[in-house]
Amino acid sequence: MKQTLLLKVNPKIPESTKIQIAAEIIRKGGLVAFPTETVYGLGADALNSDSVLALFAAKKRPLDNPPIVHVASPHEVPRLVQEIPKKAELLMEQFWPGPLTLLFKHSNLVPQVTTAGLDTVAVRMPKHKVALALIKASGCPIAAPSANLAGKPSPTNAQHVFEDLNGRIDAIIDGGTTSIGVESTVVDLTVDPPIILRPGGATFEELKRVLGDIKLHPFVEAQKELPLEKIRSPGMKHRHYAPKAQVILVEGDLEAVTCKIQELAQSYMVKSVKVGVLATDETQHAYKANVVKSLGSRFNLPAIAKNLFGSLREVDAENVDFILAEEVPSEGMGLAIMNRLRKASGYNIIKAE
Ligand code: TXA
Ligand code: MG
Repeated sequence: MKQTLLLKVNPKIPESTKIQIAAEIIRKGGLVAFPTETVYGLGADALNSDSVLALFAAKKRPLDNPPIVHVASPHEVPRLVQEIPKKAELLMEQFWPGPLTLLFKHSNLVPQVTTAGLDTVAVRMPKHKVALALIKASGCPIAAPSANLAGKPSPTNAQHVFEDLNGRIDAIIDGGTTSIGVESTVVDLTVDPPIILRPGGATFEELKRVLGDIKLHPFVEAQKELPLEKIRSPGMKHRHYAPKAQVILVEGDLEAVTCKIQELAQSYMVKSVKVGVLATDETQHAYKANVVKSLGSRFNLPAIAKNLFGSLREVDAENVDFILAEEVPSEGMGLAIMNRLRKASGYNIIKAE
């Protein structure tokens, strides 16, 4: 087991001595978890195959699922890619730094492990002082998947990273809780119109406003596992965001959903099966269950996104057998929230009528 170094920093003005220590680890081929505005990432030198291999091992991530390459400026993109389509330029101008990841055809500089043998590379410039300072100080693009064990909910604070990866990585930079709470939006720009492969912090509506034409991959709103030939992004085929408990997602009219969840909770509890409910401020008082946790107001979807992964971990820590979750509207951040909830449930979805 490794000794994992904890570096607590001021997220607004990160102390350069601590950033230098972390950057030195990255330069030497080590692994450092760090905050971004979406979730914590587990970073390695993206151009060093051995480091990236170690990254996959630490996360227990399948080698066919490539990480995102993080840069500190759009100027770092050209050497990583074959060409920058006009639409990519537009998106970088409008959304970077920020929660948007773009797929490009990669250059020869990017090692095979970093792209999992695909002909594309995923690139993002995060909007977080700590992430940007670390990339700059390291002097290399940083490959960083979310800093969780594969299959677990993504970490939104340093404690989550510690729970999953203590002893498996070299350092964790603790820069507090992340502000967005779900991962970046992944857009494929090697096709026209561009396709959203993963909904996230940059919303479909915002992207449409800038690009005019952009499509959602069917997987984004899938209600069940898609057949393998439909898969465009390796991340689509792996189990995700799954706590120990079985998540059941209940969809439909709010009133029907609330009734159905209470009915299910009741039926489990009479059998002494432990149940948790992921509710919202407006519904939490309607439920009797072993654990009831509100994700926030239904009228504030960004707040629900911010709390989602932490709440999944918290309810799971109560050792419940089932977690019942409510549908939220699929608009704005709701699209990413619903995508994560459906995946967390393993598509165990009940339609309430
Ligand atoms: O917000 C985020 O995106 C966070 C922070 C740390 O930046 N990172 C993150 O990375 O969520 P990760 O590795 O957990 O998710 C990356 C997603 C996966 O679904 C992966 O399959 C997809 O991006 N991806 C990466 N490279 C790809 C490629 N060349 N083609 C298609 N999908 C790709
Ligand atoms: Mg991930």
